[in-house]
Amino acid sequence: YYIGIDLGTSAVKLLLMSGNGHIENIVSKDYPLYFPHPGWSEQNPEDWWTAVLAGLKELTEGFPADKVAGISFGGQMHGLVVLDGEDQVIRPAILWNDGRTAKQTDYLNQVIGKEKLSEYTANIAFAGFTAPKLLWMKEEEPENFSKIAKIMLPKDYIAYRLSGVHCTDYSDASGMLLLDVKNRKWSDEMIQICGIRREMLPDLYESYEAVGAILPEVAEQLGFSGQVKIVAGAGDNAAAAVGTGTVGDGKCNISLGTSGTIFISSKKFGVDEHNGLHSFDHADGHYHLMGCMLSAASCNKWWMDEIIGTDQYQEEQKEIRELGENHVFFLPYLMGERSPHNNPDARGLFIGMSMDTTRADMTQAVLEGVAFAIRDSFEIAKSLGIRIERTKICGGGAKSPLWKKIIANVLGLKVDVIETEEGPSYGGAILAAVACGEYGSVEEAAEKLIKVVDTIEPDAGLVRKYDERYEKFVKIYPAVRELYQ
Ligand code: XUL
Repeated sequence: YYIGIDLGTSAVKLLLMSGNGHIENIVSKDYPLYFPHPGWSEQNPEDWWTAVLAGLKELTEGFPADKVAGISFGGQMHGLVVLDGEDQVIRPAILWNDGRTAKQTDYLNQVIGKEKLSEYTANIAFAGFTAPKLLWMKEEEPENFSKIAKIMLPKDYIAYRLSGVHCTDYSDASGMLLLDVKNRKWSDEMIQICGIRREMLPDLYESYEAVGAILPEVAEQLGFSGQVKIVAGAGDNAAAAVGTGTVGDGKCNISLGTSGTIFISSKKFGVDEHNGLHSFDHADGHYHLMGCMLSAASCNKWWMDEIIGTDQYQEEQKEIRELGENHVFFLPYLMGERSPHNNPDARGLFIGMSMDTTRADMTQAVLEGVAFAIRDSFEIAKSLGIRIERTKICGGGAKSPLWKKIIANVLGLKVDVIETEEGPSYGGAILAAVACGEYGSVEEAAEKLIKVVDTIEPDAGLVRKYDERYEKFVKIYPAVRELYQ
């Protein structure tokens, strides 16, 4: 058996897969997310570890746990986890959707300069990236900063607790703004700019490489064999790409999770010269471009849970009248926005309501607003000459057939529905299987395991209607941007 651990923002999802790719069991464990100030977002690494341990136990109950051969990960990206000389966590992790670093991000982009950053790392600074968080700590929490002995990303903390090894992988490290993405090595310039030391950074691995074996005391606690390989794993988007077969050249995956991403795999290294899209390493040993919006399925969750007060998401969506006809627009910037606006101060907005607007119109506007915001990144990819005709889709939002249809028509893409839309946890299990020799490569595994079961075709009339609405959508943010200062 192989285990994939998807260390998400609202929960950890664990998946048990047999060697032939069959999913044997899935377990999910929630943990708290803290917003200590508006726009801040933190979690306690100890909460992750407690949830992972409990999850591993539950996942393997009723299975021969000693037959687990490898464990790997997909992890929420960019989060800053810092350990002191005793390997104790210094402060809560600062997450990918945290917007506190506006000042440090501006410093990096304007004083160091976007060109230099792009030369060193292939990317510019965004508020959620790890390097600006280090600068924030240095300025705002100098005492904590001076205690730092190790810097790591969320899933790497779990790999460390399981194996005792300080490691990360290229795909996740790409989002730190500390990695020379093209050459797959740490950037000496960025290390210096952040005022850290090379030995604070973890060792780098390909996502499908084993970093070590499970610690004996952990193995014993779980009833696992001492031979279980702990495999580097990937950032959750790269892991999701593996889990949906988005590997090799020119493939696309859209993730509708807490964040929303559009991920385009590439065998060749490439940078968007305006840096609207991230240029990162992929878990298959190659590269990818990605646009990331900070609030995707989380907008719908907020709208359903907090405002309407229901957990019957599908029932609410049944009331939606007609796609393409809505007069209400929604800007989905509940946590600020990354791609393409790079503005941690942006916020959500409904516009266009009239006396006959219904609750369903507004629900529809939320689903459409997220799709339009993903299209913003897709448009950048198109402007780079990238031609994409079809995409896979995963994440909590992908459970809604209606949302998939909206995505297909707003982006004008064929949406291939696959047998398992688990994404990062399935990708993690595949990476573990590759590391253990079950498959020759990530590409080979994806080819053998990922099966398309249905395709949602865009409808020409609806695509035209959505094109018209998108033209209006793109005018809203520039018109209100000043209000967000
Ligand atoms: C990607 C990003 C998010 C998180 C979500 O750049 O910040 O997709 O990885 O877990």
